[in-house]
Amino acid sequence: MSERTFVIIKPDAVRRGLVGAILSRYETKGLAIVALEQRVIGPELADAHYAEHIEQPWYPSLRDFITAGPLVALILEGDSAIEVVRLVNGATDGRKAAPGSVRGDFSLSNQANVVHASDSPGSAAREIALWFPAFA
Ligand code: CDP
Ligand code: MG
Repeated sequence: MSERTFVIIKPDAVRRGLVGAILSRYETKGLAIVALEQRVIGPELADAHYAEHIEQPWYPSLRDFITAGPLVALILEGDSAIEVVRLVNGATDGRKAAPGSVRGDFSLSNQANVVHASDSPGSAAREIALWFPAFA
């Protein structure tokens, strides 16, 4: 079943020049890019996006990281896109993510882990509405 998911190529990846390499993983998997925009976000959008995490002791550090420079926000579409992109991205901690996954190949960190992806249909709908209201 074709569905849409929301993805961020995080500021660490943009700074390292990995946008093309990461987009290529999604495109060669067969996913379509529906929307794509590079932007710098402020703390308000960071808090809204990471609402489930703002009470965590590590959240202030995450907010500093995600607002520190340009990121690339995108909507991807394809069969089972939400689950597929989570698999392509790999486990949250880059040190534990499987080789072959985006995080497994490009990250050695639990925070600077190069990508975000929606984790459920509900979060995909919420995140698309938050970041790309014209596509909600
Ligand atoms: O991104 P994902 O859904 O895999 O993981 P999460 O548990 O929802 O955490 C969201 C983001 O918070 C992670 O991708 C990390 O960038 C960051 N994080 C962190 O900075 N420190 C932690 N101990 C855990 C997560
Ligand atoms: Mg998450």
